Amino acid sequence: MGEVDPTFVQELEHRPKLSLIEAKGIPEIDLSPIFHNEVPNPSAIESLVKEIGSACKAWGFFKVTNHGVPLSLRQRLDEAARLFFAQSLEEKKKVARDEIIPTGYYDTELTKNVRDMKEVFDFYTNDPFFPLTPHENDDRVIQWCNPTPPYPSNFRVIIEEYIEEMEKLARKLLELIALSLGLEAKRFEEFFKYQTSFIRFNYYPPCPYPHLALGLGRHKDAGALTILTLNEVEGLEVKRKTDQQRVLVKPTRDPYIINIGGIIQVWSNDANESVEHRALVNKEKERFSIPFFFNPGYDIEIKPLEELINEQNPSKYKPYKWGKFYVHRTNSNFKKQEEENLQIYHY
Ligand code: SIN
Ligand code: FE2
Repeated sequence: MGEVDPTFVQELEHRPKLSLIEAKGIPEIDLSPIFHNEVPNPSAIESLVKEIGSACKAWGFFKVTNHGVPLSLRQRLDEAARLFFAQSLEEKKKVARDEIIPTGYYDTELTKNVRDMKEVFDFYTNDPFFPLTPHENDDRVIQWCNPTPPYPSNFRVIIEEYIEEMEKLARKLLELIALSLGLEAKRFEEFFKYQTSFIRFNYYPPCPYPHLALGLGRHKDAGALTILTLNEVEGLEVKRKTDQQRVLVKPTRDPYIINIGGIIQVWSNDANESVEHRALVNKEKERFSIPFFFNPGYDIEIKPLEELINEQNPSKYKPYKWGKFYVHRTNSNFKKQEEENLQIYHY
């Protein structure tokens, strides 16, 4: 066994269990009524909306098939990511993230104060002028660009092509989610005129002590919606709502995994919840995952939607500015992340 680096070791109660439970029954939803039918079929769309609504409520996670994203593009993206991470640390650090500019490469992420056993490359959709104020009470606006990795030479072009597909899919899913909440299909559109969405490449190297460390510690996604794709190595564990057990989501070749983030939780006043999850590491195999985080403009105020609150169901959240929340979360991640940010805004 290799030497154990104590910075990666989880507290006893958060170490992976040896007996993994498979996430049987995680909904797999066929999106062909919106992507593959020339003429929209209202009754097929209606049942799709129902399926999405119950998946959001029962799991907060679901898989989608017939999603319109070409498999060949995914394969090109996977291969480019594999080549990027296979480089030496010195090469990867040529596109390193720093404390102010939030895109690029890093390998020092902490979740809940413990180091994650992974390397990351982040790339934002809005390039080059995504304004971010670096610290609370600091109104400077930074203008920056995504770094272009020198290798593989087509990495950036493929990322941009993939981001376009992700945005298309994310907007469609939000329409279905809006309908499932009894809202107008386009209800969320105004929040995404400008975006702070980004794509993340996670690389989890083989780990000699997978029973002590995690690739990514337990967390809930804070944005609106996440579209996740995995390689064939299992590792994603989701907290099942019915019994709070951590269950393993089996990767399948093509479907994408969708999960509800904190923003939808707040918009829906807890009708849909952002569910806790984490990623395990493997002793022999390397693992990759590529989440796309669909997030609104940084100046959007997030609060429960008026249509979804009333006297019987009063607002559960104080309004918060997404940009401020996000910068706070990012900055605290560089240091130590003390608590689940969502709770800060709970009444
Ligand atoms: C994530 O939660 O962002 C990634 C999870 C995974 O790697 O499976
Ligand atoms: Fe996540």
